[in-house]
Amino acid sequence: MPRLLILLLLLLSATNASFGAQPPARVIASFNKGWKFYLGDEASAKDAAFNDNAWRQLTLPHDWSIEGKFDEKNPAKPEGGGLPTGIGWYRKTFTLPGTAGRNVYIEFDGVYKRSEVWLNGHSLGQRPNGYISFRYELTRYLQPAGKANVLAVRVDNSAQPDSRWYTGSGIYRNVRLVTTHPVAVDEWGIFVSTPAVSAQAATVAVQTQLRNATSATSAPHTVSLQTAVLDQSGREVARQLTSGVKLSSAATTVSQKLILKNPQLWSVAKPYLYRVKTTVLAGQAIEDEYETPLGVRTCVFDGQRGFLLNGQPLRIQGVCQHHDLGALGAAVNVRAMERQLEILKAMGCNAIRTAHNPPAPQLLDLCDRMGFLVLDEAFDMWQKKKNGQDYHLDFKQWHRRDLEDQIRRDRNHPSVFLWSIGNEIREQFDSTGTRLTRELTTTVKRLDPTRPVTSALTEQEPAKNFISQAGVLDVLSFNYKHADYPELPKRFPGQKFLATEIAAAYETRGHYDLPSDSLRIWPKDGKTKLTSGNADFTASSYDHAAPYWGATHEAAWRAVRNSPFISGAFVWSGFDYMGEPLPYPWPARSSYFGVIDLAGFPKDAYYLYQSEWTSKPVLHLLPHWNWKPGQTVDVWAYYSQADEVELFLNGKSLGTKKKGTDDLHVLWRVPYAPGTLQAISRRAGKTVLTSTVKTAGPAAKIELTADRSQLQADGKDLSFITVRVLDAAGNLVPDAANLVKLSVSGPGFIAGVDNGYQASMESFKAPERKAYNGMALAIIQTTDKGGTITLKAMAEGLAPGTLTLTSN
Ligand code: GAL
Repeated sequence: MPRLLILLLLLLSATNASFGAQPPARVIASFNKGWKFYLGDEASAKDAAFNDNAWRQLTLPHDWSIEGKFDEKNPAKPEGGGLPTGIGWYRKTFTLPGTAGRNVYIEFDGVYKRSEVWLNGHSLGQRPNGYISFRYELTRYLQPAGKANVLAVRVDNSAQPDSRWYTGSGIYRNVRLVTTHPVAVDEWGIFVSTPAVSAQAATVAVQTQLRNATSATSAPHTVSLQTAVLDQSGREVARQLTSGVKLSSAATTVSQKLILKNPQLWSVAKPYLYRVKTTVLAGQAIEDEYETPLGVRTCVFDGQRGFLLNGQPLRIQGVCQHHDLGALGAAVNVRAMERQLEILKAMGCNAIRTAHNPPAPQLLDLCDRMGFLVLDEAFDMWQKKKNGQDYHLDFKQWHRRDLEDQIRRDRNHPSVFLWSIGNEIREQFDSTGTRLTRELTTTVKRLDPTRPVTSALTEQEPAKNFISQAGVLDVLSFNYKHADYPELPKRFPGQKFLATEIAAAYETRGHYDLPSDSLRIWPKDGKTKLTSGNADFTASSYDHAAPYWGATHEAAWRAVRNSPFISGAFVWSGFDYMGEPLPYPWPARSSYFGVIDLAGFPKDAYYLYQSEWTSKPVLHLLPHWNWKPGQTVDVWAYYSQADEVELFLNGKSLGTKKKGTDDLHVLWRVPYAPGTLQAISRRAGKTVLTSTVKTAGPAAKIELTADRSQLQADGKDLSFITVRVLDAAGNLVPDAANLVKLSVSGPGFIAGVDNGYQASMESFKAPERKAYNGMALAIIQTTDKGGTITLKAMAEGLAPGTLTLTSN
């Protein structure tokens, strides 16, 4: 029996108890399994009768680009990550149990890009935008119960270059099959907001758009709408019933207001979530059931005080994130996104900017649950291109629909606190910018009047900025140019400000260029090509390299810190991402801007932010301690929650240092001698933390550490395993580059490998990886079977490492 049918039957039987003999009103089933894939174009593949026996079988989400070979000549160019793009086809054959009297839909969270979908040879529609979610109704082209249906999807990412970063190619997000009654909540048909919030009560306003797809005689046209609010434990805490709702043949909207007594507030520290449960009833019969997340919180931007969450000032400590997941490419995986957010949370990050497009909906679910604010961005360009084949070609025809769909999909997430209608839009510099800003802002406000709208701008002169001149942006957001921050309140009196991008500093994890106080501005202006730089395509981790438009992390964050009227900032970027390998040419193929490298290993700047953004004590010492005897080495410490730091080399004090008001690190200039470097931070004379770095001997063994060793046997769960090359005494060998060969036994497989080096040409899918500066990453994915998974890592001349994981 096909898996989907089993799943549907299971779902039906699992929920039957509460509905008597009735099947559940709405069945939502993953549609990720059992697809066939072909890389290439094949016009007749849209036909049901096409023979796809020879095609590869796979499970979605899938990104074919990440499986390919790096090549400078790939049309996406190094800016796009240097991997292949092209055209691909997906097909899925499936049967359904009887769906008579039901409406059946297929939902795609995102297909990159220019997709067209056919069911049994009938075209259901096309969607050029690769980041937008969409659904098609299948009902009228479905075969009768038990007969085979064929869904075919053509994905065309061949027109290149189309992006300034890596996009991935394929059905790279989740797909679901949804079955409803003809009378049902419409697609993204619920809008929940909390117009009034106090400690005693919150008003929950719910707009429900109902869709009536019945023919005139066959189904009820008058329904009742019951809306209940459930608390985190599932207890009902408010309810409203609206009866006698007459449904027209088009969509009908019902407005309700509920009062929540003593509401628990949603915040980044305590992200309390309620659920809104919608039930559509025809008499006693349940026509539809639908759940929506609810977080009760207030968000206010203030021209003087910055941002206030629930009335309390909250500095936005954000990062910009592109959507790729490193070695996994663009293929969505919830655990991979959760891991990124865990690493960011530990840094003190409280906000994500989804640069520069709508994210996977699961990212927003995670941000709701984990406590992140989200700046949800729509576009990187409007009518004016940044690349020849980018979205500017589709903007005219599609922008309204795309923006509407984004807002309707995302407006119920408490994490989403601000909409961005665009990033560094070229129309900033002419009057079309004013017209389009007004149009796009009106579209957003029509669908969500509760949240502010912004756009990430570069031009800080009001007379030259046609987007700010529209006078409709609630928050003025600027990228870079931190030296001008003090001027902003004078230039734009009465406005509210945010730094949507800061820093863009370059770092390669574990690489250090001396001396640390020589600033590297690469390139130094818009006209000069980079001629300096390192021969091995590295950038120093002393936080002293940035492009002319950016700044070091320290300079950028200091400027934000000293400007209380700026609500906070989004660092460019949280993680390294594929593509945009500035400042280097090929073979550099991924970015240097991340505070965390592509493999997910923190660079040193991570601890700078941690020392500024959290209240936990930090003491981070850099660099490693393997240098040439006699060399003068700059030793830095990022620290917090302490008055001073004393440094010792082989037990001898090198002095105590304190940060001045504007300093973010302390420095000692040390003549190198091998041995032990130790820092002690103290507060009021008492030791707070100790940090030690030792000179490593020759590489001797491999150490494996898993982020999680209890996994779910669901075919999706991941364990991220850090591979470290150590000397005999257990010290990390800071320049180790051993080729590590991996083998897995048991119900798991290698989903990806990486080492964070931006110019590596090694495959992300190979069962081996060279260590880079002593480290590498292996990502192990579970299958549907439970059991023990064993990973073995071997390298010539080193004692191997083994590790076991449990999947059940
Ligand atoms: C900004 C842009 C980002 C990224 C960054 C690199 O101008 O908005 O997408 O390109 O520069 O510094």
